Amino acid sequence: MQEKRVALVTGANKGIGLEIAKSLAKQDVIVLLGARKLEDAESAAKGIGENAHPVQLDVTSQVSIDAVSDRIRKEFGRLDILMNNAGISRAGAGGTFQEAVSKNLLTAAPLADIRAVFETNVFGVIAVTQAMLPLLRESPAGRIVLTASSGASMTLNSDPSNSHRNMFGNYSVSKTAAHAVTLAFALALESTNIKVNAACPGFTSTALNNFNGTRSVEEGAREPVRLALIGPDGPTGTFSDVNGPVPW
Ligand SMILES: NC(=O)c1ccc[n+]([C@@H]2O[C@H](COP(=O)([O-])OP(=O)(O)OC[C@H]3O[C@@H](n4cnc5c(N)ncnc54)[C@H](OP(=O)(O)O)[C@@H]3O)[C@@H](O)[C@H]2O)c1
Repeated sequence: MQEKRVALVTGANKGIGLEIAKSLAKQDVIVLLGARKLEDAESAAKGIGENAHPVQLDVTSQVSIDAVSDRIRKEFGRLDILMNNAGISRAGAGGTFQEAVSKNLLTAAPLADIRAVFETNVFGVIAVTQAMLPLLRESPAGRIVLTASSGASMTLNSDPSNSHRNMFGNYSVSKTAAHAVTLAFALALESTNIKVNAACPGFTSTALNNFNGTRSVEEGAREPVRLALIGPDGPTGTFSDVNGPVPW
């Protein structure tokens, strides 16, 4: 069995996920970088070094998820940290950020697009977490972190003075559901060694928002990585960013 802690990061070939993987590897954690395309995972892992291992992982494919959990058990014998990071902001590519935001409103988004976004952002999180739970339960200190979004906070969006709330569409609604899923896992696992938390990276410049974000990936990865590495006294069932608690 591997002596170092082992982490799985979904959507680790670019953006915040890649930075999370780099940071964890620097802390001497063995990091499995999940990517839909194996070659993307391979080139991302090469840039990190010996603690990084590429894995093909599409969070919408149960076959792919099960293959990863089998491989982790056989090759590493343990899993300590699961970073539920993979996400999409819209179905299909193209268009400006503003066009994508308008198309994302539930008054405009085709149901097929809504289902596609939920498949990755919500059901993907449930499927990967369920599949990795047997390994995480065996860890002395299992950690699960969702890359969450304060833009999907129902409390913040209920406030009429919030100028960003005109963007509360399909993507945000899927992240709100992912927050609920994360809290549900935290509550169900409260009596175990597994701590489950949601961390908002802030508005980070990545492909997800056509690089309109104002924060760097280094800044964005900070809170998810902090929660991945919390000790036994750390929290579970929380939602936070670098400035502290965020309302659900
Ligand atoms: N950027 C922000 O401002 C911001 C703010 C709040 C929360 N977040 C969250 O941060 C997370 C990471 O996003 P990002 O900003 O870093 O965007 P990104 O650069 O577009 O990265 C998204 C990652 O998810 C992967 N992915 C998409 N669908 C997948 C699937 N079915 N299976 C496995 N991987 C899949 C992508 O892989 P491909 O390369 O194959 O597409 C990519 O690696 C998301 O959960 C997002 O909701 C981002």
